[in-house]
Amino acid sequence: MNTEKIWLVTGASTGLGLVLVKMLLDRGHKVAATARDGDALLEAVGAKLEGQFLPLSVDLADERNVRRAVDATMAAFGRVDVVVNHAGDALQGSLDSLSDDALRGTFDINVFGMLNVIRAVLPRMRTQRSGHVFNISSILGFDGGHAEWGAYSAAKFAVSGLTEALAAEASAWGVRVSLVYPGAMRAVPDRGDAPELAARDPLLQASGGDPVKAAQALISAAQAQYAPLHLFLGRDAFDQARGKIQSVQQELARWREMSVSIGFVDERRLAA
Ligand SMILES: NC(=O)c1ccc[n+]([C@@H]2O[C@H](COP(=O)([O-])OP(=O)(O)OC[C@H]3O[C@@H](n4cnc5c(N)ncnc54)[C@H](OP(=O)(O)O)[C@@H]3O)[C@@H](O)[C@H]2O)c1
Repeated sequence: MNTEKIWLVTGASTGLGLVLVKMLLDRGHKVAATARDGDALLEAVGAKLEGQFLPLSVDLADERNVRRAVDATMAAFGRVDVVVNHAGDALQGSLDSLSDDALRGTFDINVFGMLNVIRAVLPRMRTQRSGHVFNISSILGFDGGHAEWGAYSAAKFAVSGLTEALAAEASAWGVRVSLVYPGAMRAVPDRGDAPELAARDPLLQASGGDPVKAAQALISAAQAQYAPLHLFLGRDAFDQARGKIQSVQQELARWREMSVSIGFVDERRLAA
């Protein structure tokens, strides 16, 4: 069975994106990947891989730039099977301390950049009647109760909301959508793609999620018969999600009477 797929990964110059691209190439997939500096990306990936790897210089906040990148991917590989909207940028600071520019900047890359990619790729997937979109949110896009992280959290909640809607829209065309919530991940420079190493490294296991294992999880989810809509990555993400769900369930139960009490009452039906 031919399991080779065409992947498009955004923000692949560092972190999880870079690890993922290297792992995909190693497994024989074809990969188009973006960073603002395509040459630096090529250097980071460390291989020419003619015909298998397409590094693209893209500012994701620029819609025309993004459309050109998707056109180039189609021209090189003929289709796109899996898109990983990985690019993102964290912003820390209390809500009243951050400038308008900083707030809009975080939405530009985390939300509008992602929407640019979705708008460029989805029509292709609709025509193909297949595809899988992974949108990388954050556990802070599910559990927003963290001081100093409100702006980033708001942007990632936007990612979560738009992704749930996308899943509802795209399922009609056979396109799968997964919303990924990583917890804290360690930066792993030059780790290559040796997952066994990660499993044996006690330091890596002790603090933060391992991007190598996260990349493996994405590939496994792409191959799964039923794709997850909500995928939490990391023990911290899992525990935080469970805590948030439990506290919302408790409040739902405690305030149920008031919640359901505000509907209109049909006086005529009551009188009948
Ligand atoms: N690291 C964590 O602990 C963590 C936790 C939860 C969620 N996440 C999410 O996971 C994803 C990756 O995180 P990471 O820590 O691996 O990120 P990272 O190493 O900081 O990589 C982010 C990527 O985004 C790209 N990027 C940033 N601004 C861009 C722009 N304006 N236009 C185009 N590309 C841009 C960068 O590419 P260039 O700068 O080369 O263009 C880079 O390749 C992000 O969405 C992040 O929010 C991370």
